[in-house]
Amino acid sequence: MIPHAFIEDLLARVDVVDVVESHVPLKRSGSNFSARCPFHNEKTPSFTVSQTKQFYHCFGCGAHGTAISFLMEYQGMGYVDAVKELAARVGMTVPESDRRQNKPAGAGEDLFGVVARAARFYKQSLKHSDRAIAYLKGRGLSGEIAARFGLGYAPDGWRALQTEFDDYATSKALVTAGLVVEGNEGRRYDRFRDRVLFPIHNQRGDIIGFGGRIIDRGEPKYLNSPETPLFEKGQELYGLGQARAGIRRTGTVLVVEGYMDVVALAQAGVDYAVATLGTSTTPSQVRKLLRQADCVVFCFDADAAGQRAAWRALEHSLGQLMDGRRIAFLFLPEGEDPDSFVRAQGKDAFEALLAKAQPLSEFMIHELAARVDMGSAEGRAKFLQDAKPLLVEIKAPMLSLVLRKRVAELGGVSQAELDARYGIKMRSGASAPQRQVAKKPSVLRHLAEMLLVLPELALLADIEQFRAFSSVAAPEFSQAEVDLVLALLEIGSDNPNVRAIGERFRGSPLESLVGSYQTAGVLAWKGRELDREALRADFLGAWRGIEQRLSKARIDALLQKSRTGSLTNEDKALYRQLMRGGGTVDQAPLT
Ligand code: UTP
Ligand code: MN
Repeated sequence: MIPHAFIEDLLARVDVVDVVESHVPLKRSGSNFSARCPFHNEKTPSFTVSQTKQFYHCFGCGAHGTAISFLMEYQGMGYVDAVKELAARVGMTVPESDRRQNKPAGAGEDLFGVVARAARFYKQSLKHSDRAIAYLKGRGLSGEIAARFGLGYAPDGWRALQTEFDDYATSKALVTAGLVVEGNEGRRYDRFRDRVLFPIHNQRGDIIGFGGRIIDRGEPKYLNSPETPLFEKGQELYGLGQARAGIRRTGTVLVVEGYMDVVALAQAGVDYAVATLGTSTTPSQVRKLLRQADCVVFCFDADAAGQRAAWRALEHSLGQLMDGRRIAFLFLPEGEDPDSFVRAQGKDAFEALLAKAQPLSEFMIHELAARVDMGSAEGRAKFLQDAKPLLVEIKAPMLSLVLRKRVAELGGVSQAELDARYGIKMRSGASAPQRQVAKKPSVLRHLAEMLLVLPELALLADIEQFRAFSSVAAPEFSQAEVDLVLALLEIGSDNPNVRAIGERFRGSPLESLVGSYQTAGVLAWKGRELDREALRADFLGAWRGIEQRLSKARIDALLQKSRTGSLTNEDKALYRQLMRGGGTVDQAPLT
């Protein structure tokens, strides 16, 4: 890892305006710069770059970040390459010696480094395996495409990796990274043997795992890396890095089921496909996809398994839908998958099918109606019943409205009746059914947003008090929120002038939470220059909320204890103090 201090120096020296400007023409507007957003298709500019705050933000699609993330997103670069490119611009040298610090949680050694080394070894081995090369050629792939996806070959033999890793017998990292399996009596062997390998990258461009296909026949057909500290299947999308440019060009991201499908589509010129990793599409993947493009098309086989997978993808998409975005479903002809189809029929035929993909709303209603007898009252009642849990998931106001209208119509009731049945209350004719359902933003979220905007606020808080709060009063909050606020308090109090605090969370499990909070924080402060005093007051107000919850939790605990008659004199004193609203409760030990 590159040290944080270096990243901060770097971001202090490069100007995000220059970086963006060298790719996207910017126009000055007030104190900011603006352009049509390079990350989604739009007619009027909603993409702004702030020189004073050193970030870019799109009010249309939510794209947001620093000079580093801009290069990563726009050029499809990995994190390290983006940092190197920026460093070169301002004549700084990226320190290599410190690259091994800061491992992700759970990693004892440099897992990224180990996986990258293995990938290089496998790639090299492919060059020496006529059999593997012949297999890939036989599947229609060129050397160029194989290189683009970094395909490799794991040689036959139990310990091929030993030639690359001197510490094969002892390295923990090889096992943790899922490359080596430790069997009975500690005997080790390579997980991947005699397989063609598809390296899987994270959003930052690091290799985090592999999918390995058997050559010709055998079981299992695909062997994948296990989940490791680097690799969480439900979070990643295969081929995203390679697809970025194509996604940007077409405004579409195509989601398929197999590694081979992604690669074969790219070979045919359909270079905007990604694959899920042998699991159903998760909400977090859908969120990632919608950040990449306005239009997401899921492509499934026509068989029953494909139908089930499509339905799960639909269920996991509903909560992520946004008005103005499109999610659609493409079912291939019976017996075909994207690879076989595009090889037989070519790009144009495939894209002609793609153009006719079924919109999510249509797929949903069609499916629901097909499950019942719509000709009978009972069938229609069941239809209305089945639609309910799906419709209430949809937060996009327009789409929700249109769908409720349509469902009501098909079910033979009025929309008002349907809404009443579904418990959807309309606010004075507004079309936002979810508004009153939405939870009040949590106090932790509010704190985190403010800390992301102005890290020095951490100095106003008492970390120990927050730790106490997190252990006694936090069950109503998500663990991630608690962890994030704690991390922000720690970073901010160590280094109140930290720049680009959000960069610290890259690659951490909190990264996506930080992303969404950061965007919200910026939106809240849209157009205003940072008003320190206002933020301080706001922060102290929110902090009082934490203190109050803490003392309430402690009072409750004491009351509980008093019911068992086991209050000590100290407890009683503490109780009186708490009831007076005494602020200094944090030293009081409670048992
Ligand atoms: P498919 O069985 O549809 O294979 O698996 P495919 O993509 O058409 O592969 P080829 O064309 O025969 O080479 C789709 C995805 O499901 C996961 C993999 O992620 C694969 O890409 N899978 C499949 C496994 O993880 N293990 C398996 O044994 C099979
Ligand atoms: Mn296939």
